Amino acid sequence: MTELLLAELINKQQLKSDIFKFSVKAPNIVKNAKPGNFIEIRVSEQVEPFLRRPISIYNLDKENGILEFIFQVKGKGTEILSKAEIGAQIDIVGPLGNGTFKYESYQNIAILGGGIGIFPLYELAKSAKNDGKNVNIYIGFRNKDLVMLESEFKEISNKLVLTTDDGSYSQKGFAIDYLEKDINNGKIDAIFSCGPLPMLKAVQKLAIEKNIPCQLSLEEKMACGLGVCLGCAVKTAKSTIENPEYWHVCKGGPVFNAKDIDIS
Ligand SMILES: Cc1cc2nc3c(=O)[nH]c(=O)nc-3n(C[C@H](O)[C@H](O)[C@H](O)COP(=O)(O)OP(=O)(O)OC[C@H]3O[C@@H](n4cnc5c(N)ncnc54)[C@H](O)[C@@H]3O)c2cc1C
Ligand code: FES
Repeated sequence: MTELLLAELINKQQLKSDIFKFSVKAPNIVKNAKPGNFIEIRVSEQVEPFLRRPISIYNLDKENGILEFIFQVKGKGTEILSKAEIGAQIDIVGPLGNGTFKYESYQNIAILGGGIGIFPLYELAKSAKNDGKNVNIYIGFRNKDLVMLESEFKEISNKLVLTTDDGSYSQKGFAIDYLEKDINNGKIDAIFSCGPLPMLKAVQKLAIEKNIPCQLSLEEKMACGLGVCLGCAVKTAKSTIENPEYWHVCKGGPVFNAKDIDIS
């Protein structure tokens, strides 16, 4: 069940100059959340910025009721949030999203992430590993300075491939190319992905070509977050000019089957 609460900020870590990891006490959200869910945060009591900001759940510490999320400072909202100090009460609604990652029926799973899109993939990988799945993770960054969470992802995977576009750290190239090799060797039953749109388009195409089930988490811009404003609409694969058809990422997603959506 979705809950609105003031959650105490009990730990704050600066991972990069503009990237922060927050740990908050939110036992009910932690109890109810699934991999792929997100939360919405009200960053200010002032009129501006008024809308809540959607942020993915990074980690659920079920034992201690602690929820962790990681965010990049993009604009006014995340800038204000980044200034919160330990002990602050963070205004959160969650868990949100009806479309979550569903990995249960696959044994050999591939998790593909790019840049800050890797955040919602951690809880997925951790849960799948705990459930005895063979977890293959492929994460890519533009260069060495942007690499993060390597040891965290290594710990919860059977195999981790980390790439940089320019080869300044670890493997050179795009993470999806390493995934494709493993698909061609018959090692992958399903793909789960989140990241920049060009990467999502590429993995959608690859999965359809290879006939492999694939679930994508979309991070469309949102306004209401409640399914009423159409601010987060994504076209369905069946949509045509004559009969346009959309889903709301905030309600139907953020995770969709790759073959059901049109992100071209
Ligand atoms: C379901 C979902 C999960 C998300 N999870 C995370 C997360 O775990 N960590 C994280 O850092 N960010 C995440 N985002 C993106 C995050 O919500 C936005 O970066 C944030 O709302 C920006 O707010 P702001 O007030 O700082 O910036 P604004 O002033 O609102 O915008 C500043 C800049 O950011 C761009 N922007 C705004 N929203 C988005 C968006 N959704 N995607 C890409 N660019 C955007 C704007 O175009 C503008 O250029 C997620 C978004 C969605 C929809
Ligand atoms: S953000 Fe308003 S419908 Fe999704």
